[in-house]
Amino acid sequence: MKSIQLSFLLLTAIFSSSHQLSKPEDPTYTAAVVEHSQPVGDSPRTRTTSASESFQKIIREVGDVDIIVFPEHIINSQATATFVPHESQNITPCYQTDYELFLIELSCSARANQLYVVINVVEKELCAHGAGSDTYNPCPSTGVRSPAPRRTRCPPCGAKSYRYRIGVYWGNETTVIGVDRTEQATCALFACTDVRLASCGYIYPENEEVINTHHFTKLSISGNFPAAPRGRRLIMPSTLNALFLPVSVADYEWIESPEAANNVDKPILVDLKLEKPQNDLLTFAIWANYYTEIPSTHNLDHMQPNGTQTSPSTSSSSTVSVFRILCVLSCLISVL
Ligand SMILES: *[C@@H]1O[C@H](CO)[C@@H](O)[C@H](O)[C@H]1NC(C)=O
Ligand SMILES: *[C@@H]1O[C@H](CO)[C@@H](O)[C@H](O)[C@H]1NC(C)=O
Repeated sequence: MKSIQLSFLLLTAIFSSSHQLSKPEDPTYTAAVVEHSQPVGDSPRTRTTSASESFQKIIREVGDVDIIVFPEHIINSQATATFVPHESQNITPCYQTDYELFLIELSCSARANQLYVVINVVEKELCAHGAGSDTYNPCPSTGVRSPAPRRTRCPPCGAKSYRYRIGVYWGNETTVIGVDRTEQATCALFACTDVRLASCGYIYPENEEVINTHHFTKLSISGNFPAAPRGRRLIMPSTLNALFLPVSVADYEWIESPEAANNVDKPILVDLKLEKPQNDLLTFAIWANYYTEIPSTHNLDHMQPNGTQTSPSTSSSSTVSVFRILCVLSCLISVL
């Protein structure tokens, strides 16, 4: 299993021996596999508490087994992620306070009932100063990271995942912060929360558990951006991940041919390519502003005080020839 976030924990009663059903020399051992419904509760915390109580009851009542295996996606979630001791530390969470209460309780329960318990938890780790295992996520300022979920499957866990669309646009029907007219061009891959186009560009509310099912290992976008008819053009990458940060410049390649800044009179071919896999992309795009001179037609003129219209452009611009933006978007989306 690739995921770092989900670890199977074997909580052992280290001093168990006499009670154990099976001996090391036995060819078999007795295992119990638990099916469990989703715990109920208003918050992640109450759901975890309720699941922990239920697991402990099952451990107490399971009877003569050597090992009991609980299902994934039940005991905790991102909000109740727990530190997990490394096996080399030889730590029994029952004796420590560094872990989430449920982990301590289940460890003690395993010990008291002298059996092995396998649970599957959402884990967090210290990551400040380069600590922690290598993940695709940057370390947040808190210094504690709960790796963005990378679960292999998500049975009835109710978690959401982003869908993606690709879009190609060149036109005047765009605005800056919903107010000023612009002429923009873009070749973009972007996230949506459901099938509706109107859901694109929005994120899930904070209390939703989001588990992405799309893991981008290869993603390249090429766009042929036309020359700037008015002599001004800005072409740049537009990227965003689920931490609301741009994708690190080290994680993608950006090639302009010829160089955009010094060749506004020429069309530019831009290639944007992922260099490192990403599992929490919200936007990955080439974006261009052509600085329209079309005046705004509404009265929200905070950028044009008192409604003064700066000299409407003359009709000479009608000679602008028709360019086509050709975006060759090739995405190889591999799903874990
Ligand atoms: C944007 O509007 C200007 C002025 O009407 C026009 O010349 C230009 O072709 C339009 N751009 C696009 C991409 O349609
Ligand atoms: C806009 O109108 C106000 C009030 O009439 C005036 O004081 C201000 O100087 C005007 N601003 C500009 C940029 O013309």
